[in-house]
Amino acid sequence: MSKKNVSRKDFLKTTGALAGGAILSTPYIGEASKLFREKRRVALVGTGVRGIGMFGRRLRDQYPDYTELVGLCDINPGRLRYAQEYVGGNLPTYTNLDEMLSEHQPDALIVTSRDDVHHEHIITGMKHGCDIITEKPLTIDEKKAQEILDAERKYGKNVIVTFNYRYPPYRTKIKELITEGWIGDVKNVEFHWHITHSHLMRYMQRWHGYRRFGGSLWIHKSTHHFDMVNWFINSDPVEVFAKAELERFGKHGPFRGKNCRNCAFADQCLYHWDITQNHHLYNLYTKNEKYDGYVRDNCVFRETIDIFSKHSAIVKYANGAQLNYSLTADTEHEGYWLAFNGTKGRLEVRAGGWPRKDGEDIVFMPNRRYSDREEQVIHVEHGTGGHWGGDPIMNDQLFKDPDMPDPLGRQAGVRDGVMSIIIGVAARKSVDSGKTIRIEDLVDLKPMPNRG
Ligand SMILES: NC(=O)c1ccc[n+]([C@@H]2O[C@H](COP(=O)([O-])OP(=O)(O)OC[C@H]3O[C@@H](n4cnc5c(N)ncnc54)[C@H](O)[C@@H]3O)[C@@H](O)[C@H]2O)c1
Repeated sequence: MSKKNVSRKDFLKTTGALAGGAILSTPYIGEASKLFREKRRVALVGTGVRGIGMFGRRLRDQYPDYTELVGLCDINPGRLRYAQEYVGGNLPTYTNLDEMLSEHQPDALIVTSRDDVHHEHIITGMKHGCDIITEKPLTIDEKKAQEILDAERKYGKNVIVTFNYRYPPYRTKIKELITEGWIGDVKNVEFHWHITHSHLMRYMQRWHGYRRFGGSLWIHKSTHHFDMVNWFINSDPVEVFAKAELERFGKHGPFRGKNCRNCAFADQCLYHWDITQNHHLYNLYTKNEKYDGYVRDNCVFRETIDIFSKHSAIVKYANGAQLNYSLTADTEHEGYWLAFNGTKGRLEVRAGGWPRKDGEDIVFMPNRRYSDREEQVIHVEHGTGGHWGGDPIMNDQLFKDPDMPDPLGRQAGVRDGVMSIIIGVAARKSVDSGKTIRIEDLVDLKPMPNRG
């Protein structure tokens, strides 16, 4: 007999008994609660720091009444052993995903593996009848994106991309203001994201430094930003032109060593980092290097690094809006400037950086000829928990209350995942070719002016 449970959502869909919106949005009510309380069984592939922290241990600690974690999979047996201990519950471990899914037949698979193999795990999960909860980026190139789109159509399973950047309260507020028409039709977006040297260094040390693994920061990092813009303005990209360069790191470095632990230049290197002082990371990665050669404290001056540290792009949208975007990593500011210019006014946010704040201010400036609203500053407090309070809300929706009211459509699916990474893919192609790249030439999705 199948071990799969009837999820609350599927149960309601099948019976049609509780079709009223008010009832649908009220979790765990009445007699039906016994049925709904059956736990959703999930498995996880990719037991790195994200998989075991954000999902593994958290599921067991915070959602034991709603979700049962049934197995862990990774290609590295040593990391799996550490993950098993860290997550707790003596979960069965596997180095073969098919085997784990055949044995346990979970309802859903959480994908937290390296970016370039997400597509394999998403498709294998769907083949085994699982819904998918995958970390961003959905994948790293157009071919893999198309494979995921084809598989979703073939197997008809739900795929959720965990775009946690949509969930912090002040981002939700921005979406709300635009949706309510405060600035009219959005004509132009200014979005300039900064990451610090220390943050960039962490990317340069790992697989993120190679396009073939993380697609470059155009995809690994900017997928969050492009997704937010697509979502905020409710439209799809049609064309991308971009420039990018790598500075300071990789071949530009003054010297290079094997890795930080064994470096003759440790005393001179501004980026030297001693992983042996971080027991969690040392036990998870360094102790298990012998199995797969994954070095967590690689030299940031490896000549083979082929990603960029500064990025600029212009994106044209199907609704006529234009995005001016940059991702700059050579800075001491961790945060961003974001502004929307619409037919009725402008919204502006400066977020992150120093001094740290308890919340963010959204500045609204009306276009006096077309708007009756007053100019004002709308202050929104940060929530508690990761990513300015976004992570706990997203996790509750994923693991506790799948029918949580979601009027602004915060939960993202495959189409959203593809439309965000594809801007990065197009940007990368534009940098390489010097040409403007059309989204329709990359995947078989037709860009929509209004995503509905
Ligand atoms: N949403 C966010 O804010 C956020 C933050 C951090 C990471 N992430 C994403 O989470 C994912 C994991 O990130 P991480 O920092 O833990 O990376 P990581 O490299 O530490 O972990 C990835 C794990 O995948 C495993 N793996 C690689 N190839 C595999 C294969 N073929 N089969 C099974 N396992 C395989 C590796 O052995 C490793 O244990 C990435 O996709 C990353 O982009 C998202």
